Amino acid sequence: MLTRDARGAAVLGGVRLGDLFDVAAGGEAVRTPAYVYDVDAMVAAARELGRGFGPQSHLIAYAVKANSAGVILRALAEAGCGADVVSGGELGLALACGISPDRILYSGVAKQDPEIDRAIGAGERGILALEIESVEEIARVEARAAALGRIARVSLRIKPGIVADTHAHIATGHDEAKFGIAQADVPAAFAALAAAPHVRLVGVGSHIGSQLMRATEYLAAADVLIELARERETTHAPLELVDFGGGFGIDYGDGSPTPPGEFAEGISARIARAGLGARTAVVEPGRALVGAHGVLCATVVMTKRSGDRRWLFIDAGMNDLLRPALYGARHHIEPLDQVPPAPGAGRPWAVAGPVCESSDDFGEHAFDDPPPARVLIRDAGAYGYTMASEYNGRPLPAEIFLRGGRMVAVTKSRGIAAWIADRSG
Ligand code: LLP
Repeated sequence: MLTRDARGAAVLGGVRLGDLFDVAAGGEAVRTPAYVYDVDAMVAAARELGRGFGPQSHLIAYAVKANSAGVILRALAEAGCGADVVSGGELGLALACGISPDRILYSGVAKQDPEIDRAIGAGERGILALEIESVEEIARVEARAAALGRIARVSLRIKPGIVADTHAHIATGHDEAKFGIAQADVPAAFAALAAAPHVRLVGVGSHIGSQLMRATEYLAAADVLIELARERETTHAPLELVDFGGGFGIDYGDGSPTPPGEFAEGISARIARAGLGARTAVVEPGRALVGAHGVLCATVVMTKRSGDRRWLFIDAGMNDLLRPALYGARHHIEPLDQVPPAPGAGRPWAVAGPVCESSDDFGEHAFDDPPPARVLIRDAGAYGYTMASEYNGRPLPAEIFLRGGRMVAVTKSRGIAAWIADRSG
């Protein structure tokens, strides 16, 4: 959790953030922009979600796309998490970080043959499940499994026809979404499975969207899935799992979402009521485990006045944190080394980065006079570094990992020279 020390300086995971960037304070003198993560808090979030399931058998398949740092993946794996991956790259990473194949699910509308092969070929019996996103994909997986002489374990990702209450770009469960199989096509998918001897259906699943603030739609989708699983089991062998997807929201400062544990309680109650309590309930949270436990630290480069407007230009830009530019997302920005103004106090500053795009803009934030020399951007642990780019010749930011009240790992930015060498070669 982010707190403040007696002098008002920001402290994350027991470490005063300013010290990390100060050689004088004994820090490593990492340069900003830099992401800093409280890994212990991420592990605690995973454990708390797990408690919501009570005695229900479950798997928390962490959505690697939210934050793919190895330090984080290994820590979550130690806490019992599996992984939800969406590419051969993420699959290879999860395996390299010690996540067992039988705790990995792989979604994606356009998996390529080498990616399918990697999933089917992992470990003794392949990964826990390939999430099948179309009727057409079944024949493709059958062909690869037959060629490899293996059985592919799959789960059907259904579009439950439920519109999540979230940003249009991150809603995925409605009928027009490119993801998953429409309910009307489920009979065709079952027929394709019947004609695929190397493909074994082990589950059904869905993911209706991200940054969900309440459980209503999620649990409505859960009912659709549970009903489908029951129907299937009346004529076929019991399934092993029902995958309810991820999407639990976090508080970006605009209201507290339903806590993930309550989603887990809702799932557990429903699956037990339907008589399917012996199946593994899978969830795929990304943001809810890591989002609130990472900040992006930046240095103020300069200020600018233009008419009534005051700009605070920082050394982090949309290439480092894309969410504001891409979704109009708002992340709170605060001074790194002194206490933020009380709510309603301070002077408004438009905080922006150096990138040559008008959308490189983090919105208005209040600061006392004079404005701070360094700032932190809150709630940047999910979809921050993973969506960063080197646009405008700006090398990827640094990352600092905290555990047990100290820095346990740091990845410095590869720097401008490496970028120039790459692009000029
Ligand atoms: N499972 C599937 C199949 C998904 O597509 C996603 C996210 C997740 C799980 C994890 O969702 P989470 O629990 O993190 O909400 N870049 C966007 C979010 C895109 C989410 C894409 N899919 C953002 O920054 O808000």
